[in-house]
Amino acid sequence: MEIRKVGVIGAGTMGNGIAHVFARSGFSVVLCDVERRFLDRALETITKNLEREVQKNKITIDDKASALQRIEPVTERARVAECDFIVEAATEKFEIKTEIFRDLDRVARPEVILASNTSSISITRLAGLTGRPEKVIGMHFFNPVPVMKLVEVIRGLATSQETFTTVCELAVKLEKTAVEVNDAPGFVSNRVLMPLINEAIYAVMEGVATSEAIDEVFKLGMAHPMGPLTLADFIGLDVCRDIMRVMHEGLGDPKYRPCPLLLKMVDAGWLGRKSGRGFYKY
Ligand code: CAA
Repeated sequence: MEIRKVGVIGAGTMGNGIAHVFARSGFSVVLCDVERRFLDRALETITKNLEREVQKNKITIDDKASALQRIEPVTERARVAECDFIVEAATEKFEIKTEIFRDLDRVARPEVILASNTSSISITRLAGLTGRPEKVIGMHFFNPVPVMKLVEVIRGLATSQETFTTVCELAVKLEKTAVEVNDAPGFVSNRVLMPLINEAIYAVMEGVATSEAIDEVFKLGMAHPMGPLTLADFIGLDVCRDIMRVMHEGLGDPKYRPCPLLLKMVDAGWLGRKSGRGFYKY
């Protein structure tokens, strides 16, 4: 089956980036979220980011217009029944994904692959919620999706070779590089990145250095484009906390305990860039 129409569930930061790259690569996209205002905001962001690409001569004005035309925003999830491939990029909560995967399994045609952009939830567990575990896979994009080249492709225990190959081929069409990873809490990206961020937060909490100093160390000493605390604000401190919790629970090792300062900041509503305050003010 040729994949022409792609369903994207969730129009947040990751969902709108995923819709952007599929539409830019010529796929029709059904972008689904629960409220019209989330879709309006996503289309605004996609328009702005496509314009950025026009300004950089990466695409033409016509490419931008046709990419936007290929995205259909919908609030009725049943509309993804028309899609040949579905990527879920909803909130990183297992209960929310449970409801979505059960529903997608009911709505989508039996041959359709259900991919999740989850950053740490078990693909095997999501697959077990469906009657098509061999067609469930992790397709983990990185923020900002139009810029970052990586797609971490995660095989659940039952994911078939055919599903894996299809997703790797799709990544190539999106001009991304697929890296194969097995299913384990945090996969590879967050298994390694989040303890770095969490440890940087411990260093702030213990007064080892200021946030600015820690970020300078990583920018100038290790050539990271952003220091770990700027990156934490960029990812969202609630997302960082949730990923640490998944690894703490799933791996059972106290080294994955979320830093108390991270928990406190999330409780205060200091979620990083999106809330206007995190380790920095925006
Ligand atoms: N959409 C499209 N293009 C964008 C963009 C967006 N949202 N944001 C930036 N760009 C483009 C710019 O147009 C620019 O393009 P050129 O290189 O062609 O000029 C390029 O990206 C660099 O942008 P800027 O010059 O404005 O800014 P910068 O040099 O500071 O780069 C950055 C910004 C790309 C975000 C860079 O700081 C970076 O790579 N940061 C690290 C990002 C990272 O680690 N992401 C992974 C987060 S973890 C995750 O996503 C997964 C998870 O599970 C938590």
